[in-house]
Amino acid sequence: MEKYFWQNKWVFILAAVWSAAGLWNLWRFPYQVYKYGWGSFIVAYLIILFLLGIGLLIWEIAFGQYTQKWAPEAFWQVSKYLKWVWWAAIFTGAVILTYYAVVIWWWIDYLWYSIKALFWWTLPWADNAKDFFFNNVLHLTKWISNSGSVSIPVLLWTFAAWILIYLFTFKSTKSVGKVVLVTATLPFITLLVLAIRGITLPGAMEWLKYLFSFNKDLFFSLELWKAAAWQIFFTLSLAMGIMIAYWSLKKPDSEIVNSTVLVAIWNTLVSFLSAIAVFSTLWYLAVKSGVWVDKVVDAWPGLVFVVLPKTIALLPAFQALFAVIFFITVFALAIDSAMSSIEAVSRAIRDKFENVPVEIITLIVSVILGLGSLLYVFGNGLYILDIVDHFITSWSMLFIWVIEALVFLFIGKKLISFILERNSCKLKFLFNKYYFWLSFALNVVVLGYLLILNLKKWIAYGWYPDEYLLMYGVYVIVGIYALAILINIVDILTSKKK
Ligand code: PFF
Repeated sequence: MEKYFWQNKWVFILAAVWSAAGLWNLWRFPYQVYKYGWGSFIVAYLIILFLLGIGLLIWEIAFGQYTQKWAPEAFWQVSKYLKWVWWAAIFTGAVILTYYAVVIWWWIDYLWYSIKALFWWTLPWADNAKDFFFNNVLHLTKWISNSGSVSIPVLLWTFAAWILIYLFTFKSTKSVGKVVLVTATLPFITLLVLAIRGITLPGAMEWLKYLFSFNKDLFFSLELWKAAAWQIFFTLSLAMGIMIAYWSLKKPDSEIVNSTVLVAIWNTLVSFLSAIAVFSTLWYLAVKSGVWVDKVVDAWPGLVFVVLPKTIALLPAFQALFAVIFFITVFALAIDSAMSSIEAVSRAIRDKFENVPVEIITLIVSVILGLGSLLYVFGNGLYILDIVDHFITSWSMLFIWVIEALVFLFIGKKLISFILERNSCKLKFLFNKYYFWLSFALNVVVLGYLLILNLKKWIAYGWYPDEYLLMYGVYVIVGIYALAILINIVDILTSKKK
């Protein structure tokens, strides 16, 4: 019997919600809303969430709960030749974690400066936030081929980020369950306060009107729908083995649909709050500097590391205090997702080495992934991070989503009756067996289509050998899949012998 069951339903829901709600809610969602117009983006977002996202999330969850196994082992029960796909899912999550941890150190760095400013100095990015981020924090080189050097503080902060991740997860659900009570509550409260403050700022009606605009042309564009689908699948932490691992630590008879819908809605709410908080702040900055909002808005990483810190520095009072609260909030947002990812990896290994204490396994995983983070701590780290992130999200994750949807379609009947027996949702009439079949089919078609689009784009783009740096992304993907297939082969061979 797994001794790391969640303490209770609420701790578990908090952990799942805040695994889902992460940095993408804070920096990507507000940007998409701005780019496509809130009205148009939200409609597409909600349709995809209902028809595809919640469906896929419910199956991952039901599957974890049904098999009581972590992802690869659970899929071994469907077919032993499929196990590699979920090893690949777990490794994909692990690679994401290697750069997520680096982003966490950027935050710790900002937090450290803010704490210092609280006592002695002013915020050091007040004069030039861009220069501060790219030069002081990242030591960014001009070209990706120039790796620059690692500064000692950078190394120390990365180390600090990993120590924190380890300390928060070393006893699996027992420590995650406690930490999450703080790290989940805090960002929610601060985002709520920021959003309320934003709505009550003078001139708020103007940006609200702007945000809620419905752009008909954009609404019918493929780009908008793709962006919404990606936002949902990524923020729901699908295809990383996370939700399967989390839910496999729940008792097999627990309710499923209610909790899943709650996780999806809560995650969306965090995105909405972030968009309101971020936009009201940007509007404030634009008005204050007398420029159109277009001039201050920026995509990742500029939005969260340049524009928002700059806006904080422009506040009339208590800038340092505000900065401390803001950076703790973002840190809390990021750390919950990181914790869930490490739990998925360590749970996978725990099942293989049952006699090794969980603390040791988590330590080994943290050290290995921590070493992986070193790839991004040089002066060209941001470029490499961007490339790896692109390959991971647009290839590896998409591929796993497609296979996952196909597998769920294949075992649909069994899974649907398992889910329906554990459905006490008030919207039961919506989440009936027809919903699930429709959602299975739509997921296969839509995700398959996205994969084909990606392939077409890749072929049209061609292959330029001089862009050898893209190879970082290719190496990572090939490494993930080679290792996953190798483990699968070893498993098949050793299981025959048993
Ligand atoms: N849902 C998370 C987010 O939106 O940031 C996705 C995630 C990222 C999960 C990194 C886990 C992780 F380590």
